[in-house]
Amino acid sequence: MTDGKKQTNALWGGRFSGSPSEVMETINASIEIDQRMALEDIAGSLAHAEMLAATDIISSQDAAEIARGLEQIRAEVLAGEMKWSAALEDVHMNIEARLKEIVGEAAGRLHTARSRNDQVATDFRLWLRAACERMENLLSGYQAALVKRAEEHAGTVMPGFTHLQTAQPVSLGHHLLCWVEAAERDRGRFADARARLNESPLGCAALAGTAFPIDRDKTATTLGFSRPMANSLDGVSSRDFALEVLAAASICAVNLSRFAEEIVLWTSKRFDFASLSDEWSTGSSIMPQKRNPDAAELVRAKPGRIAGALQTLIIVVKGLPLAYSKDLQEDKPPVFQAMDDLELALMAMTGMAGDLTFNSEAMEVAAGEAYSDATDLADYVVRELGKPFRDAHHIAGSIVKLAEIKGVPLSGLSLADMQSVEAALRQDVFKVLSARASMESRTSYGGTAPIRVREQVQAWQARLAERQSG
Ligand code: ARG
Repeated sequence: MTDGKKQTNALWGGRFSGSPSEVMETINASIEIDQRMALEDIAGSLAHAEMLAATDIISSQDAAEIARGLEQIRAEVLAGEMKWSAALEDVHMNIEARLKEIVGEAAGRLHTARSRNDQVATDFRLWLRAACERMENLLSGYQAALVKRAEEHAGTVMPGFTHLQTAQPVSLGHHLLCWVEAAERDRGRFADARARLNESPLGCAALAGTAFPIDRDKTATTLGFSRPMANSLDGVSSRDFALEVLAAASICAVNLSRFAEEIVLWTSKRFDFASLSDEWSTGSSIMPQKRNPDAAELVRAKPGRIAGALQTLIIVVKGLPLAYSKDLQEDKPPVFQAMDDLELALMAMTGMAGDLTFNSEAMEVAAGEAYSDATDLADYVVRELGKPFRDAHHIAGSIVKLAEIKGVPLSGLSLADMQSVEAALRQDVFKVLSARASMESRTSYGGTAPIRVREQVQAWQARLAERQSG
């Protein structure tokens, strides 16, 4: 391919007699980044050329030549044979220059009634639309992996925490389904962003529209957009669609990081709630005994990069007047990086969710520690002795204090011990004093009792199956 370095740029050489300085070329070129949108650019050009012929703006022979050339370039791109040149600045001009090499004069007609400003906005929306869909599918896969584990562990007791202090026993299945719920909202955010960004900027041209009798509905339909954007200035200058996707990605990354942190905690010997197989563990170069949850730690770290990408683009766009400014070329690196990071994080979390071996015994023992059944005792006092909850709370608190002094769990106290605090207590109080009984008693809608968890597992299975078939 021609290297235009020491000549004036073939695409706007009319106005120029010299070539850019090397630094100018370096700061200006985006080809290293935006070549990732080559297929979207070709799709946009094909739709545009077809429309130009349908509206008699160019001849159908020229359109056919353009299409032939673009198909060849598509094949070259897919085969990794396309030669990209920084002197040609970006993906749009590289492809146009290559088209000229292949089809000659007809190539020069492709840019009629179009600008790189509407072209890049079109490409970027197409790229992000597919990226959102990828994230939605990955999230569904992650949910399916979690639901499967929740089904296995609906009846497994673990300590539920508040402030990372043992609070009340919960079902492990219930805990895992919490992350399924969060993933569903993440999925919804990507789907919403995708629907909102699915409008066509093509035909907005540089900023003001065009005098040629183009058919914007036609190109919008060809490219699968819902409609053409109604304001040409908006079409070329808005990037809130990318900000929205980055916001969704940041929130998703934060949700993933929280479960990742739990995996780090659970697989630590201090907790000993779970382990990861060799597939998801790394060793230490010095300590032969180590098994480290590196993937979980890296997912925990991803919000740094992903929320950082959101921050980057928010600052790039802030204060930009209408319409297009070259600042907007800096929109792609953070978006591509964030989507790559999130994709990897989702795949890692799906893998680990399926891989974890849970230590149900250790979890149940831990669930019974630290007076996690104190609320159950207070609830018993309300239910069986008819006391107000505040009084019951006080009674249970005094009993916990007594047990603490004696160094035993609540179930280790004698009935006489209990009655020294509250004389009306009866022997059947001991029935509520176990982690499992506590978990099984919480049957309110959305609660942790295994019967409720199994209902939720079934609801999710149905929902995910429907999604897969629909
Ligand atoms: N490479 C540019 C970008 O990504 C394409 C649009 C350039 N438009 C222009 N008027 N210089 O934003």
